[in-house]
This record gives sequence, structure tokens and C-alpha cells, in this order.
Amino acid sequence: MNAIQIYGGKRLQGQTRIQGSKNAVLPILAATLLIDGTCEIENCPNISDVRHMIRLLESMCCKIERQGQTVKVHTGQLSHCDMPSDSVCVMRSSIMLLGALLARIGSVSMQYPGGCVIGSRPIDLHLQGLRKMGVTIEEKEDGFYAETKALVGTYHRLPFVSVGATENLLLAAVLAKGDTIIENAAREPEISALCEFLIKAGAKIEGAGTSRLVIHGVEKLYPITYRIPADRIVAGTYLAACLCSGGEIFLKEAPCIQMQSIIRVAEEMGAILEESKDGLLVICYERRKALSKLQTDSYPGFPTDIQSAFLTALTVADGRSIMEETIFENRFRIVPELQKMGANIQVQKNVVIIDGTERLQGALIQAEELRGGAALVLAGAMADGVTTVTNCHFIERGYEDICFDLQKLGIRCQKIDYPVTDI
Ligand code: EPZ
Repeated sequence: MNAIQIYGGKRLQGQTRIQGSKNAVLPILAATLLIDGTCEIENCPNISDVRHMIRLLESMCCKIERQGQTVKVHTGQLSHCDMPSDSVCVMRSSIMLLGALLARIGSVSMQYPGGCVIGSRPIDLHLQGLRKMGVTIEEKEDGFYAETKALVGTYHRLPFVSVGATENLLLAAVLAKGDTIIENAAREPEISALCEFLIKAGAKIEGAGTSRLVIHGVEKLYPITYRIPADRIVAGTYLAACLCSGGEIFLKEAPCIQMQSIIRVAEEMGAILEESKDGLLVICYERRKALSKLQTDSYPGFPTDIQSAFLTALTVADGRSIMEETIFENRFRIVPELQKMGANIQVQKNVVIIDGTERLQGALIQAEELRGGAALVLAGAMADGVTTVTNCHFIERGYEDICFDLQKLGIRCQKIDYPVTDI
């Protein structure tokens, strides 16, 4: 089934559990390649990006077994491989395999990674950093061949914050000869989770969660069991659903500590939020307030991955809001779809001006990427009438079952087969 149909206009009421983090589990699955033996990854979300990552690991003769929410990865027979291009090209995080594979087997041949249409998504920082660590990289039209006799620790200063480049260099450094320093490293919680996993497996890393990582190369890492933390972006998406539709919801296991910038903005919009060790209570009964200026930023700033969901909520806020996207160059792709529903939005390069209207009207709209697709489902939930969001495979990259979760929060929605036609 390729679409989601939503019967909108109702306030939210209910609770749902937040799944494990996509952006934490993907680099950690790549990190298992550094370990000879079997690692157990608990609370592993069953999403299509994880299924693609597992397929890539299996193409390298890893043995993978999923038992419920636990995935066991056995890398003992790791060997050279031709990674299936459809799995490499469907997601950005296939590039995470580069650093780990170079550390383990010394050479990699792969296509350029794929990912959402939200920006050009180059990998220049990844390749520059690896070259500095003793890797020769021959770039071709659709991919590259990378090889090293031995990875050597070195000093990196990233020119700007990059989550993926930080993760790739970290994975290359943990078994390298000597020390590696990464200045201006990304501080996202997903990187702290990766550091926690690697340290538990025997790596020597200082500065996790800060912008300066110091890695002392070690000889070997050891198999471990690790529990993936809850997904702060999924939790932020459902928090935004309450900002859109109003009501009262509880998000079980929401990682409140990692959501402070999202919580602050929601409070500015008039929501009442109560944080606890069990999760996050969200209450919205008054019409939401507009935001004079909201800017995305790297962590601990307001996350770009939540931008579309909050943009959607602001379409029915009381007044004019201005939002600036500072991380990706093309992340307002949902605007034309929201305009079909009656939203009043102007786009000026990387800034949107949103004039809040009373209500949106249900419509036939299409997802073009992961987080924008999820935001369109939220738009359908708050709109009058019926909304159909097509191309829901994009949403399944990062949400285990958005329909199930939103039904638990009181929204009437279902997956349907929609005739594949250009809209
Ligand atoms: C990670 O992408 C996340 N993906 C993204 O989440 C997230 O939006 C992003 O970090 C920012 O937080 C995963 O973790 C799998 P970056 P990544 O490198 O690593 C530019 C989602 O919806 N750049 O921090 O690709 C890049 O183009 C996804 O879950 C270079 O120019 O993000 C972007 O403009 C979407 N050269 C900026 O840096 C490089 O070599 C930040 O990108 C690398 C990045």
C-alpha cells in the first residue's frame, strides 16, 4: 500500500511509545563491522532504512538475525563485497560503512550514497578526512574505490558541523594507529550514542557530546549488547501533531533531555509540556501562537529534521511566523502541498513566511521525502475532511508505523492502495 488516508479535524487524545532512533542505530550497525563476533542491538526500530542497512551488511557475509526489537549482527565472516546499489543509493547512511570497512578490511568500492532530495548532500568532508588518515580514494562517475594499508590517527578541523562526517571519521579512528582529534565535531545525541557503543566495546574516546573528540586508537574491539535510545525526531514529530490538532497526549519513553530546543519552541507556541523519566506530556487547548523567528541549527539548536512538522503547525497559528532553514538548501518541499490545503506560505530562498489561517482543508497531496512526508500526515490530521498522502514509502524510511502511532493518539487514519498517477 502506497498511501495514507487521514480523516482530519479531531483533537488528539491518547499515548504512544516512541521507537528506537533511526539516526542512532544506522551508524551503530555500521560500527558492528569493527567488531569480530556477534553484537546484540536492542530496541532496533523496524524501518526500511534499517532493512537496507542490514541488506548491505549481509552482502558482506555478515549474519543478521532479528528477534523482535533485537537485531544480532555476526561479522566473523566479513569479506569484500559488491554492495547492492539499490540499497546504497536509497539512503544517505550507506556512507557510514566507509570508515568502518576501511578500518576492518582496508578497501571499499561503492556507489555514491543516496538520501532525500532536501539538498545536494555531498561527501567531500568524509573523503577529505579519510585521505588525511592514509586512505587513497579514486573517484569515478557514479562511485569511488577507497583503499588503505593502515589508517593513521590525525588532526581534523571540520569547516562546519557535519553529523555524518563526524561519525565516519570516528569509525575510522577507533582502530587507527595513534590519536585522532576532531575539532568542530557534531554534538547530536546520535553521536553520543555511537561513542557510548564504541566505548562499551573497548574504544578510547574522550569528549563525547562536545565539539572536540579525542580518539586513542586501540588494537581490537569486543562484541557487546547495546540498547538504542528513543528517537527524539519521532517524538518531536508527534509533539508537533499535538501543536497542529490540539488535545492532550503522552509520548512514552520520549528522550526529553535531548528535546530541550523542541520543547522550548513548543512552549513559545503556547503548549504546556511536562517532562518525566517515563516520557513527555503535551497539552494544547488554546490556538497556537505564531513565532516571530525560528531558525534551525545543529545540536543543541532546533533540529532541521523537525522543521517541516513545526512549519505545518504554524500554518494554523494565530499570526505571522518566520522560519529559516540553515542546514539544507532545499527543505521546504512540502510548501506547495500545504498550499493545496489552503495554507498561506511564501518561500524566499531559505526563509518561509507563514500567515496562520483558521483551518486547512483535506486534499490529495504527495510526499517527496521522509520528514516532509510525516509532516503532511500531520497536516491531514488537523485539516477538515479527508486527506490522502501518496508515496508513503518515504515515511516508512524513518517511522515504524506512523498510522499505528497516530491511531493511538486518536487520529483516524489508514494505509491504502492509491492508483499510481502523477498528481
Ligand atoms: C544527518 O545527515 C541525519 N541523517 C539527517 O537526518 C540530519 O538532518 C542531518 O544529519 C543534520 O542533523 C542521519 O543521521 C542518517 P550533515 P547528514 O553531514 O550526516 C553538508 C533524517 O530525516 N555536508 O550534518 O547527511 C550537507 O549537505 C535525516 O533523519 C557537506 O557539504 O548531515 C548539509 O548541508 C535527513 N559535505 C550539511 O553539511 C559533507 O561532506 C549538514 O549535513 C557532509 C555534509
